[in-house]
Amino acid sequence: MTVDVLGIADLGPGGLAAVLDLAERRAPSVLAGRGAALVFEHPSARTRNACEMAVVQLGGHPVTIRGEEVGFDRRETVEDVARTLACFHSLVGARVLRHSTLERMVAALRGSSRDVPVVNLLSDVEHPTQALADLLTVRQELGSIEGRTVAYVGDGNNVCRSLVLACAMAGARTVVATPPGYGLTEGDLAHVAALGGEIRVTDDPMAAAEGADVLYTDVWVSMGEEGEEEKRRAFAGFTIDDRLLAAAAPDAIFLHCLPAHRGEEVSATVLEGPRSRVWRQAENRMHAARALFAHVLGAVADAPDVVEARDER
Ligand code: CP
Ligand code: NVA
Repeated sequence: MTVDVLGIADLGPGGLAAVLDLAERRAPSVLAGRGAALVFEHPSARTRNACEMAVVQLGGHPVTIRGEEVGFDRRETVEDVARTLACFHSLVGARVLRHSTLERMVAALRGSSRDVPVVNLLSDVEHPTQALADLLTVRQELGSIEGRTVAYVGDGNNVCRSLVLACAMAGARTVVATPPGYGLTEGDLAHVAALGGEIRVTDDPMAAAEGADVLYTDVWVSMGEEGEEEKRRAFAGFTIDDRLLAAAAPDAIFLHCLPAHRGEEVSATVLEGPRSRVWRQAENRMHAARALFAHVLGAVADAPDVVEARDER
């Protein structure tokens, strides 16, 4: 069965654990002689480089395509673009303006003779490959994910959603502090609960930070969003700074998916400070992407240093 990852919960707890394990093992050659299409409707520094290098490490050839080249629903339909890419590639990753584009790609490919996995490389709803790197970093830095408290301070956006769902599946508690009106939805909170997760929401950044093992933030204004000035006013007081960090656990780490805006969602002192792990987190984007691609292509890790490919697509 083809495994698409449009949201992090598509992996399920077992799949998530398997991907995190694969991320720290030797790359299997599951893409030897094959291609992976990586489509970007938004700019990217980390995701593009992480995914291209991940494909190379799996023995494959990445073809990165800017959104305007394929022109979703302008040059041809989303469905026809997906079917075309599947003629040449064993995997399609896409960063899209609208999550529905990914759903349409999956619908066009499922059950067809060119049924290849689709991976969300960021949409307006989720950023699952980011959440994988986030959990990998937490595990490496703190030794465990289960039982940890991850505090997210900022916009209740795509990154926040994937993070809390991933934490729910991995047994970490989450606390999310957003200004009123910028939080996760009731549906998101129900999804966390359905996954067995524990989540608390607040509009008080200090209350979120107190005792947390991980402090996390993201930009206040996401790509493609409007109303920047209004948002910046609403988020006054939500900067992760030394005062907030001091309220967290003594060995707490600071994470940020990047790009960062110093003086907005994070102070320069925290971003550059001794608790910051953002560059390890950035590097982990590649290890996590490699593991995720290997997983959806059927690789299994069955011994500490041994990885084998099952499905020769
Ligand atoms: N964190 C992240 O997705 O970065 P890019 O937008 O640079 O890919
Ligand atoms: N929430 C941000 C994440 C960037 C990696 C955005 O969607 O622009």
